[in-house]
Amino acid sequence: MVTRMVDLRSDTVTKPTEAMRAAMATAEVDDDVLGADPTAFRLESEVANIMGKEAGLFVPSGTMGNLISVLVHCDIRGSEVILGDNSHIHIYENGGISTIGGVHPRPVKNNEDGTMDINSIEAAIRDPRGELVYPTTRLICLENSHANSGGRCLSVAYTDRVGELATKHGLKLHIDGARIFNASVALGVPVHRLVRAADSVSVCLSKGLGAPVGSVIVGSKSFITKARRLRKTLGGGMRQVGFICAAAFVALQENVGKLEGDHKKAKVLAEGLNQIKGLRVDVAAVQTNIIYFDIVEGSKLTAEKLYKNLEEHGVLVMPEGPARMRIVLHHQISSSDVQYTLSCFQQALTGVHEENAN
Ligand SMILES: Cc1ncc(COP(=O)(O)O)c(C=O)c1O
Repeated sequence: MVTRMVDLRSDTVTKPTEAMRAAMATAEVDDDVLGADPTAFRLESEVANIMGKEAGLFVPSGTMGNLISVLVHCDIRGSEVILGDNSHIHIYENGGISTIGGVHPRPVKNNEDGTMDINSIEAAIRDPRGELVYPTTRLICLENSHANSGGRCLSVAYTDRVGELATKHGLKLHIDGARIFNASVALGVPVHRLVRAADSVSVCLSKGLGAPVGSVIVGSKSFITKARRLRKTLGGGMRQVGFICAAAFVALQENVGKLEGDHKKAKVLAEGLNQIKGLRVDVAAVQTNIIYFDIVEGSKLTAEKLYKNLEEHGVLVMPEGPARMRIVLHHQISSSDVQYTLSCFQQALTGVHEENAN
């Protein structure tokens, strides 16, 4: 029987805390589609303020936040967006920018650290003289921290350079900031500074910050006015939404300060895993709360088999391929959970080596 559960599948798996539940129970609410919910307004204003932008809008998910942002910036038929070939928007959002929005994606290779080479971005910008045949580039998207690159962070200098490039070519810059607070904490840079070059940012409250639901997109007042209309079009206008905004507000107040601890625990876990025979972790690449690791060739263990073994001991991780796995830390993982997890991995790998020896 499993007596202990350590859920490391994602930072989206957190359960609302007592403080969040209490805030939800007492939240002052009204009809937000009519623009009258005070708790939603308070959350949106607070996030906009922290991010150094004029206004904010609560949306049900990061996916909708990115979709709305892209569609606002690309509101003319034939628009194209430059984005990373390994970015969340390009890979995991059902191609919504094209299937729903009619926006053409122009993927540029993501480097291992989540950046795209500046020269490659510039080369991908369409020459307006070719407008008879080309789509028109209108937007560049970055992702910070970069999930598929193991939660690595884009620096201020890099983000500013992409911003300068966008300005030079009359383009907008959107940042998928699902984990922008993780990046800000890891880089030691205030979050408003990190996103200064961006015209819009989508900030998830339900990932590292631990809220049960929701994201806030931020930008100029005119951007948010258009975004509000699109949110309604997409069915994302919610009535007494202040209930969930109240929990998200608590997440913002209580959990940003815990991110540094999550990152430290991720490092301890990564170093520990890397010491276990049969596993390989690029420890230096672990900058925030995400760890990718590989099962080394010849160990006769698949990710599937390891996953099942760990699950029997209550440790949940995410298989990412036949020999690759992902772990994500969050505020409901303690140092003792980290040690327990390492002992479960050790036991699983020792079992395999013994089997192989027999
Ligand atoms: C980098 C990134 N962007 C966007 C999203 C989408 O967020 P949601 O699951 O709330 O739609 C995710 C989800 O994991 C993500 O990791």
